[in-house]
Amino acid sequence: MAAVAMVEDGMVVGLGTGSTAAFAIEGLIARVRGGLKIVGIPTSERSATQARDGGIELTDFAHHTKVDLTIDGADEIARDSLSLVKGLGGALLREKIVAAASARLVIVADEPKLVAGLGGTVPVPVEVTGFGWQTTSVRLERLGARPVLRKAADGAAFLTDGGNPILDCHFGAISDPAALEREISMVVGVVESGLFIGMATTALVATPNGVLRFDR
Ligand code: A5P
Repeated sequence: MAAVAMVEDGMVVGLGTGSTAAFAIEGLIARVRGGLKIVGIPTSERSATQARDGGIELTDFAHHTKVDLTIDGADEIARDSLSLVKGLGGALLREKIVAAASARLVIVADEPKLVAGLGGTVPVPVEVTGFGWQTTSVRLERLGARPVLRKAADGAAFLTDGGNPILDCHFGAISDPAALEREISMVVGVVESGLFIGMATTALVATPNGVLRFDR
């Protein structure tokens, strides 16, 4: 995988979450077994387990406050700006913290995720506090969303690694993602939104004709 090839000896590497990021972690595990020396900061318990089991040494922000390069997936990638919707896998908060600490954020995804504008194909996941989520939901509706409480397979509310529920906010096409991200972040009860603005530095998009690379 092209993203895995960008990783060099000595790097602190952010490990994304989701099925595509899991492929990247597998690639990193193979390179570590071949002698690559890195430490990883995982964005979820899932990715931590995969990486640890595969032999990647893990670290945390107590030991490294900066990440050299993070490889992660996305649910939508805006072709021109590389703004993203993330969080359908539920790891948006840790993903955003790791992305914000990263010198480079490389997004790996399939072609259907590459869009002209955000919001047309997926809702914006918004992690909220469990306390009062119903009233937070009403405030998000005032921003134009149709929020839906995410459920786990057993029908109970899905909870993130941080123990918080997620409201999947259906906005439809978003005309100004940066403004919307700011507005959502000001809603009382919101922990974080899945809008990642100005964070991705590269997107590697797999198409039937090969991998397209976009840089910002
Ligand atoms: C995890 O919370 C998400 O942000 C994922 O990065 C995103 O959902 C992409 O996942 P897939 O690669 O599984 O589609």
